Amino acid sequence: MANEMIHLKVNGIPVEVPKGATLLDAAKAVNVEIPTLCYLKDINCIGACRVCVVEATGRRGLLAACVYPAEEGMEVFTNTPAVRKSRKTTIELLLSNHKKKCLSCERSEICELQRLSREYGCDEDRFGGEDDEQFEIDDTSAYVVRDNNKCINCLRCVAACKDVQGISVIGPIRRGFAKHIGSAFDKNLADVACVGCGQCIVACPVGALTEKDSVCP
Ligand code: FES
Repeated sequence: MANEMIHLKVNGIPVEVPKGATLLDAAKAVNVEIPTLCYLKDINCIGACRVCVVEATGRRGLLAACVYPAEEGMEVFTNTPAVRKSRKTTIELLLSNHKKKCLSCERSEICELQRLSREYGCDEDRFGGEDDEQFEIDDTSAYVVRDNNKCINCLRCVAACKDVQGISVIGPIRRGFAKHIGSAFDKNLADVACVGCGQCIVACPVGALTEKDSVCP
C-alpha cells in the first residue's frame, strides 16, 4: 500500500511528505534551511538543543522541527522574529558554559556552534554561566582527546559510540552545569573499552572531541 502523504506549507511553500516525516524533513524537501545542533540524521533525533525551533499556526509554543511530525494542513514558519530570538538565546546559553578558546581550537571555522553564533549575532558573555574550565582534559587515549569544557551535551558522540560503532563506552554523567560526557565511574578513555574508532570525533559539532596530534610542536 502506498504511503499516506501529508500536505503542509513551509514559509508559504506547499510541500508533500510521507506520514511520519518531521517538520525538518518537510523544510528540506523545499530547500528551506533550519539550523540544527543535536540532530544527526538517523543517529541522534532527540530534540534536546532546541536550536531548530519553528512557529506553526494554531500551536502555542515553538516546535522542535527535528522531532515534531508534519501534520495535515499545518503552516510552518522557520524565520520569524520569535524563532530567531529563541534560537539566539539558546545559543547564548550554550556559550555561557562553553570554553571559548576559539583562536586555538582545532575546530575553529568548522565548528557548528561558532557558525551559528555568528549567524545569529550572539553575545558570548550575555549569560554568566559556570567556570568554563571545570573539567580536566582527558588525553589518556592514544587516539582521542576529550575536552568536556567545550562540550554542549548534544549527545551525538554518545549515539555514534552506541548505535554506529556498537561500543557504548560513553554517556551523560551528573546534572546541571556539572553534566558532562564520560565513561562509567568517570574513568579515562584509556581505561575503558574504547576502540579509538573516531566516530565520536566525526559526530561532535564542536571541539570537545578531537584526534590526538602525534606531531611534536
Ligand atoms: S536540532 Fe532539533 S532540538 Fe536539537
